Parts: sequence; structure tokens; C-alpha cells
Amino acid sequence: MTDTGSPSIETMLLEERRYPPDPEFAAQANAPAEIYERGFEEFWEAEGRERVSWYEPFTELYEWEPPYAKWYLGGKLNVAYNCVDRHVEAGLGDRVAYFWEGEPVEDRRTITYADLQAEVVRFANALKSLGVGKGTPVGIYMGMVPELPVAMLACARLGAPHTVVFGGFSADSLAGRLNDMGCEVLVTQDEGWRRGQPVPLKQNADEALESSRSVRSVVVLRRTGGDVAWREGRDVWWHDVAKDDSECPPEPVDSEHLLYLLYTSGTTAKPKGIVHTSAGYLVGTASTHRYIFDLKPETDVYWCAADVGWVTGHSYIVYGPLCNAATSVLYEGTPDFPDQARWWEIVERYGVTVLYTAPTAIRAHMKWGPEHAQKHDLASLRLLGSVGEPINPEAWVWYREHVGADRTPVVDTWWQTETGMILITPLPGVTTLKPGSATRPFPGIDAAVYDDDGDEVGPGAGGYLVLRRPWPAMLRGIHNDHERYVETYWSRFDGVYFAGDGARLDEDGDFWLLGRVDDVMNVSGHRISTIEVESALVDHPTVAEAAVCGRTDAVTGQAIVAYVTLKGGQDPSVDALEELRNHVARKIGPIAKPANVVFTPELPKTRSGKIMRRLLRDVAENRPLGDTTTLADPTVVEEIKTRAEAEQGDE
Ligand code: WTA
Repeated sequence: MTDTGSPSIETMLLEERRYPPDPEFAAQANAPAEIYERGFEEFWEAEGRERVSWYEPFTELYEWEPPYAKWYLGGKLNVAYNCVDRHVEAGLGDRVAYFWEGEPVEDRRTITYADLQAEVVRFANALKSLGVGKGTPVGIYMGMVPELPVAMLACARLGAPHTVVFGGFSADSLAGRLNDMGCEVLVTQDEGWRRGQPVPLKQNADEALESSRSVRSVVVLRRTGGDVAWREGRDVWWHDVAKDDSECPPEPVDSEHLLYLLYTSGTTAKPKGIVHTSAGYLVGTASTHRYIFDLKPETDVYWCAADVGWVTGHSYIVYGPLCNAATSVLYEGTPDFPDQARWWEIVERYGVTVLYTAPTAIRAHMKWGPEHAQKHDLASLRLLGSVGEPINPEAWVWYREHVGADRTPVVDTWWQTETGMILITPLPGVTTLKPGSATRPFPGIDAAVYDDDGDEVGPGAGGYLVLRRPWPAMLRGIHNDHERYVETYWSRFDGVYFAGDGARLDEDGDFWLLGRVDDVMNVSGHRISTIEVESALVDHPTVAEAAVCGRTDAVTGQAIVAYVTLKGGQDPSVDALEELRNHVARKIGPIAKPANVVFTPELPKTRSGKIMRRLLRDVAENRPLGDTTTLADPTVVEEIKTRAEAEQGDE
């Protein structure tokens, strides 16, 4: 427990660099400064009318019966119509929806809105012929091919809810999700590409289907042409069934019609099926996409370098951008295939103007060095974004300098699978940027920081991030699990949504995200967030990436253990280790000085790139490892264990 009167999470690292908006950018920005003055209801009413086309207009903005909200009640719409058909009707059929870049170099396709419409209609007809209609649950297990958004949109066109399962997940993970949702049809592909190697998607799907009895048909896209096993009567080729381009009218659905479930893994327990519905989700994603990325659909080439299998891809590769008639890049492969300049080659080829990625990717590029970006012309970039983890100030500044030519705004956007849309973020023409801060709640969002007792903290203090009013894209619960919904998000504080993240407010009232509260360390009664110590480490010129955690210590309660990845060309040594410990002490204070530093070439991460500190705690405590099934690369922890043991031996 903390002493009475001491803050819930202490703040130690101060970052003082400031980047006010460039007047030229501000003059052309979609979001003017006065946007923050619009009232909650006024803002979401107007967005509801302007972002989306309705078959029947909504009659009530929202209904709030905690912990469940409904939005845009009385309205009828179709999500796929909004994302595709209406743009073609408006004469934008020739506009590019996706520049698709396959992982094998030279594998490229340009898909206009008219092409997208034709493909969606054909695939919706195919699904129909397999008995899919309004309400039929469909599973999608694919790589980053254009047919993935096509399949999602075809479902939305029919009012059939989908669940997209990330193509890197195993057969077991797929089976769990298909069963939980009761999917009747599965859409997959023969194989995917990852770092030049085929990924056996159909084979995994076959294995999953042995324990997923609800699935009666499997549609298989031919991607690599690799051999696959076939079950007659169940399996059909995409190219055999998606031939009928006769009219397939979009199905008008109610605002609250289920659009999709997306499963998010808790740290140990069974994945939660996060429920997202149609109208509020579409308005929320389109609105945030327009203002935060300052999207100019006529001229921008927007690239969200996430995977569609995560919520970032759902909201900001598929639904938000297409609703806004944007031109996007869709890239199939990894950032380092065939070499570490691949991303920058893509930016140059398509003239990407807005790039949205994750801190983990930025730190990987830092590790590889800026020379890869320097080989390419990145002058088209005018705005950069970050999502997924707190971004270390040094990574933020590196991103701006080496990718954005020290010229582009960087928007650090905080949100979750559960929130559906970005909630805390700068607006690029308005906000003074601070590296490491997501700055302030989006217009129409009521976020606050509470202390242990549920009292709101003032500027300068840290605590728990909460949301006090519903928002259009918020989750509508956990599929089939009311209790868990209440317990996970609504039981920590009365009547407000608890995000599970720590945050602090600075003197200006800007938000600094501090990571998951479960990761907070307690050293001699001081509650220290992992991100601050990590950012102090990344601040050192030799460090590319760092993760810290607490381990039990007889004297201080917990002691800090740091796992550090050095930049290319740097050698670990005892001197380097002492230097880093002292660097943290100088940046933050002796209290935060790591007791141990372990050098490691990689950190354990989830498939979406988040550092898994839970496993580092297991290593630090010499405990058997907990659940490792969500690890991107299982060999990494073993390697770290070996290094940690060697380091303990050295002491
Ligand atoms: C973390 C991803 C700090 C946070 C969209 C959140 C962030 C979790 C940020 C949700 C950010 C995401 N700054 N932390 N800008 N963005 N997070 O569900 O801990 O994959 O609760 O959604 O990522 O991750 P999820």
C-alpha cells in the first residue's frame, strides 16, 4: 500500500521538448481549434449525420444504461454501402481504395472503389450461395491480401457478423474463436507469406475445424498456389464461388446490429469476444480518422502498417478509411523483407502522405539504423501516427526526425480493442505535441485520471485512466459473458469505464499513458511505471529498446530489472551496464536505478508487438513461465532466461 496522501503512481521522468503546430499545417487542417468547444451531444449528432449515409436517420443520439450504451437509435444503414457503393455512386469509382503490395517484391495490385465494389458484390453473392444471410456468423482467417477486406465488407453487406482471426494465430486459437462465436462459414487461403516463407493457413484451419463443429463451409482463396488438403462437400475455392456479379443489394440493418466480434487475449484467461456494432462504430472510426489523420481523400495516400487481424486494422485500414473514401496502402509482409528498407521503398513508390504504425516497429527501425530510410525519398510524408504502447520520447523524436524530416507532426493515439476508436490523441493542426504524451481526449470524449479512492487527480498527478461518458464505438460487452464485462471494466470504480492503464496528467492537463497498471512496480513504497524507466533507458544513445519489471527484493519490496536491446553495432559490457544504471539514476533519480540489467537481442512480445512484461517478471523471479501461447517468437524468452542466469552468475 502507498502512504496516505501519496499519489497512486508517481511521476519521475520529465520530458520538456515541445512541438507547437505548424501554422501552415493548421491553416489547412480538418480539425480547427474550436472543435474542442463543441458540446458532447452536438459533436456526435453532427458527426452521425456527416460521416455516414442512412437509409433511415437516427432519432435518438444515445441511450446509456450502465454498463451498456446504444448509439444512433432508430437509424438504419449498411456499413459496406457506406464504405464502398456510395463512393462509386458519387462518381469516385476510379479512385484507388487500396494500393496492395504483396510480400514477394513485384507482387502488386491497384484496387479502385469500382473494383472493390465488384469484388464485394461477387463475394457477397458467394457467401449467400453458401447460406450466409443477416446474422450468420462468419470466421475469417487470412493474411494481408485484398480479399481480406473484401470478405469483411461482403459480410457487412449481408448483415453477417464476422470475426477476423489474425493469420499468425495457431489452429487452437482459431478453433477457440470459431466455437465461441459459433461460426458457420470460414474464409481462409491456401497459404500466406511471412519473411519469404509460406504460412500454412489452410492446414491450420483444417486442424482447427476438427474441433469446430459449427463450421459447415470453408472458402479458400488461392494465394501462393501451394498444395492443400481438400474436403469435398465442405471446402470450395474462392474463384469457383465468387463469379456471380448480379446485383446484391446491401442489407439495411439497425444501428445496433452486430458488425463483428474481435477476440482480445487477457494475460492468462480465455480470450474475450469484444462486441462491436454498426453505426456508432462506423461514425466513431470515420470521425477520428478524418480529424486525427487530417485525411484529404482527394490527395492523401494513407498507410496504416498494422495487420487487419488487430483492431487497428479493422478501424483504421478497413472501416474508418473506406468510409472516408480514402486511398490506402495495404502491405502483406514484414518490414524487413527482403531487407530493412522495404517500408521506405513502399512510402516512396506510392507517395505515402500519412503513416500510422506502432512503437515496436519504430524501435525496430531505430535498432536497424536510419540509413535505410535515408536511401529513399520520403518527402511525401506530412503526418505520422503511433499506437499500441506508450511511445518512448526518444523513439518519438527519432520517428519525427528520421522519417518525418523533423517537419511532420506525430500523433500518439491511445485506444483499445474495447474502445473501437482512438480516444486520447493530439489533433495535428491544433495541439502542441509533447514526445511521449497522447495529449488530450478527442472531442466528445470524457477521460479522467482517478486515484485509488476514485477521486479525480489534478494536474501533475498520476493514477488510473477512466472514461466517464459512453462513446459511439465503445464495446457493447463481451460476447456471452456479462459478468466478465462488468468485472473487467466496470467494477474498479463506480459507474465509469476502467481501461486498465495508468496515466498521469501534466501541468497543462495533458495525458501521459503509463502502461498497464498490472505492470506498475513498487520500490520502497514508490509506485513507478515501467514506461518511465524504459524511456530513460531508450534515451541513452546506445539503446534501441528496453523493458523493465519488478522482482521481489527483501529490502525494497521490489527491485527493478531491466532488459535492454542495444542499437546495431553496440557491444554489451560490464561498463555499458553500469553506464545504463547510472543514466537512469541521472534521468529519474536513484530510486529508479535498475538493480540488474540484462542485455538481449530481442524482447518477448505479443504478435501485435506489445512487450510481455509478465514473462520478464517470471524470468526475474526465477519462476516457471506462465502462458506463452501469445508470444510472437517463443525462443526469445529462453534466450533471455539463459542470459539472465549468466548475469546472475556474474554478480
Ligand atoms: C496500449 C490497440 C500508450 C494500452 C489499439 C491499451 C497505448 C492497449 C497506446 C490496448 C498509446 C495503445 N499509448 N499505450 N498511444 N495505444 N496502448 O487492445 O495499454 O491491442 O490499453 O488496442 O495498448 O491494446 P489493443
